[in-house]
Amino acid sequence: MNISVNPDWWKHLFDEVYLLTDARSVCDQEITRREVDLICKLLPIKPHHRILDLCGGHGRHCFELYSRGYTECTILDYSAYLIDQAECQASEKNIPIKCICSDARNTNLSSESFDHVCIMGNSLGYQKGSESDIEIMKEANRLLRRGGWLIIDVTDGDYIRNCFIPNSWHEVGNDILVCREREIVGTYIHARELVINKKKGIVRDENYSAQLFNVKLIENLFVSAGFQNILVSDGFSPHQKKGDYGFMNHRLIGIGRK
Ligand SMILES: C[S@@+](CC[C@H](N)C(=O)[O-])C[C@H]1O[C@@H](n2cnc3c(N)ncnc32)[C@H](O)[C@@H]1O
Repeated sequence: MNISVNPDWWKHLFDEVYLLTDARSVCDQEITRREVDLICKLLPIKPHHRILDLCGGHGRHCFELYSRGYTECTILDYSAYLIDQAECQASEKNIPIKCICSDARNTNLSSESFDHVCIMGNSLGYQKGSESDIEIMKEANRLLRRGGWLIIDVTDGDYIRNCFIPNSWHEVGNDILVCREREIVGTYIHARELVINKKKGIVRDENYSAQLFNVKLIENLFVSAGFQNILVSDGFSPHQKKGDYGFMNHRLIGIGRK
């Protein structure tokens, strides 16, 4: 097997199909609640604090935070489709959450304009080498006020290596079948994702890759981006039932202070 990956895969894969293929993790309110419980437990977060959900996708963490009384939320993501979804949800619910379509490496937002930044749901490690992740985390650092906190949540690469599953499939509703074929290439996992609509045929056949992070790598990222009081832990498993979940059931959580 040799799964070749276009380095820019992440620029177009986060669309309506992603919201189907990853629905078990990113469209499940209960999973989001558990993740937000963790944010609220680990960060000294106050209702008036300004929170940036960097690489925030369709904004599920911000909407949950808002419902808990944290009203100063901003979602930033590269995907125009996901930001559009967030904007629609905000306007439907009449919620004043800011939604920004931009690159997390260079947001053009003002320095020191947030009390907390969250990078949740395995949104790092998409490009080879750590340069891009360091750029994102340095940008998070620039955007935080002194004493502000960054939390990141990524899949546990050591778990993936130890319990490697080269092939998996699951169904979404009655019509959609998601098949994944994977290989480990150095410190990355490469995957081919084939999505089939049983009535209409192939919906997607794309490859992607992600870094296999471990505690040390995450600590190094925090240090390189200028953070202090760094704490990285493993063992966060938001899914209650056993399953593959695209490896989203075994996470590393890191926090660091500016
Ligand atoms: C797996 S999704 C997770 C989204 C969200 N954090 C969640 O948990 O639902 C990863 C997200 O990171 C975003 N992303 C990756 N690299 C980015 C970058 N350089 N700038 C902005 N967004 C980025 C993608 O567009 C995608 O929406």
